[in-house]
Amino acid sequence: MDLLLYLCLGFWVPVVAALDFKYHHQDAMEAFLKEVAQTHDSITYLHSIGKSVSGRNLWVLVVGRSPKEHKIGIPEFKYIGNMHGDETVGRELLLHLIDHLVKNDGKDPEITRLINNTRIHIMPTMNPDGFESVEEPDCYFSNGRFNKNKYDLNRNFPDGFENNSVPIQAETQAIKNWLKSETFVLSANLHGGALVASYPFDNGVPETGTKQGHSIAPDNDVFEYLAYTYSSKNPEMSAGTSCKNGVGFRNGITNGYTWYPLKGGMQDYNYIWAQCFEITLEVSCCKYPPEETLLDFWNSNKHSLIEYIKQVHLGVKGQVFDVNNNPIPNAIVESSGRSHICPYRTNKFGEYYLLLLPGSYTINATVPGYTSVLKQVTIPENIKNFSALRVDFHFPFQVTNTSSTRISCSEVPLYMYFKSHSGRLKSHYMSLILLTFVSIFHIK
Ligand SMILES: *[C@@H]1O[C@H](CO)[C@@H](O)[C@H](O)[C@H]1NC(C)=O
Ligand SMILES: *[C@@H]1O[C@H](CO)[C@@H](O)[C@H](O)[C@H]1NC(C)=O
Ligand SMILES: *[C@@H]1O[C@H](CO)[C@@H](O)[C@H](O)[C@H]1NC(C)=O
Ligand SMILES: *[C@@H]1O[C@H](CO)[C@@H](O)[C@H](O)[C@H]1NC(C)=O
Ligand SMILES: *[C@@H]1O[C@H](CO)[C@@H](O)[C@H](O)[C@H]1NC(C)=O
Ligand SMILES: [Zn+2]
Repeated sequence: MDLLLYLCLGFWVPVVAALDFKYHHQDAMEAFLKEVAQTHDSITYLHSIGKSVSGRNLWVLVVGRSPKEHKIGIPEFKYIGNMHGDETVGRELLLHLIDHLVKNDGKDPEITRLINNTRIHIMPTMNPDGFESVEEPDCYFSNGRFNKNKYDLNRNFPDGFENNSVPIQAETQAIKNWLKSETFVLSANLHGGALVASYPFDNGVPETGTKQGHSIAPDNDVFEYLAYTYSSKNPEMSAGTSCKNGVGFRNGITNGYTWYPLKGGMQDYNYIWAQCFEITLEVSCCKYPPEETLLDFWNSNKHSLIEYIKQVHLGVKGQVFDVNNNPIPNAIVESSGRSHICPYRTNKFGEYYLLLLPGSYTINATVPGYTSVLKQVTIPENIKNFSALRVDFHFPFQVTNTSSTRISCSEVPLYMYFKSHSGRLKSHYMSLILLTFVSIFHIK
């Protein structure tokens, strides 16, 4: 009996099939995610942040040493794929990324450190209905782009520059709620139809540079660097490869507005209202390429996907405390000369995260109604450390009246009332694109 039991246990191997390079429809995707969550339960957490219009779950798999909850000092990162249902490569790349992360934990030192020091949220599809509705895979535009109600989800967010009266869709609302529930710091959303890393803003006003053909965010230097971090590890993207009937992009990056303006996009919303730096990755010329090409896409994007996550450790982070060492939520913490139109505030743990390139900065922490504390900081190259520079602030008084939910600005076009701008224009030469001829499809 004992021997039999021993044999049974000894020969029991979990049936973990390798993830194949095929398209995974909703059922297969769910099965894979559930299997990962079960097999790697100490470092993953699978949950649905809501449902699509047709009732499909919007799955998110979290990978981290403490996957279920935020830990002070551990930044939150996210990837979102397939928000345009017919742009399918990102969906599969993210499934393979999940597979790669969980299988290399404890084996590959770099992945292990990444998981130890980061909480990584991965949503393979934001538009499952659109994906399932595609009948004939096509390299170009198809109706699978839209959600079930025929709305383009990347035009469905409140806009920072003009009124956006489009009715908010279930998928968009789920993302908005999710953004409120976590302190996301860095993000990317994956698309197809071009090869480029595109950064905010996607929309603009003259004060952000639209008369010069771009729309520059206060953190433009950081955005150019982030976009280039992705493109530089992807040979075709960094070569500025132009897709058929498309545009080649110098260094494989572009300002979103320079490429083509759009209203209601997700990356601008993340940056303006959710304190999260987001860029838009166009990873394939063909929106819905044959399955046989998926392995090549994984090979040409895997280093970029991992290197980009590490950038969540750029800059400076810390906590703001009162005289009793209680954390102060809703303190405004900004770097002088690059304040955000909706000020970035500490979360309920009094934490802040500011993505900044190495250099010297003045960090201004303000408890509204009280006072400001300024600190000079010199930020080193800290990516290899898997931690931003830690700088805390201590206020010499007690603060009793702050609410613990993070205050955000009202969702009106804040830039319509905006006068001066402090965009970092100095390194803008990088984003000058080589315009061959512009032929704009629905891509981003
Ligand atoms: C990662 O964290 C684990 C568990 O806390 C620890 O044992 C391990 O040494 C850490 N590894 C690295 C490379 O930091
Ligand atoms: C935007 O909407 C607000 C409120 O509905 C309105 O007062 C304002 O005039 C609109 N602005 C533009 C430019 O349409
Ligand atoms: C610090 O930030 C506060 C709040 O945003 C602002 O009112 C103040 O002018 C800033 N101080 C300096 C010296 O930049
Ligand atoms: C807290 O109190 C100060 C001083 O009375 C006031 O100016 C500030 O607006 C209050 N803050 C909140 C969040 O109520
Ligand atoms: C890396 O982290 C260690 C420990 O937190 C710290 O002492 C060191 O100064 C950091 N180095 C850099 C370059 O940030
Ligand atoms: Zn797209």
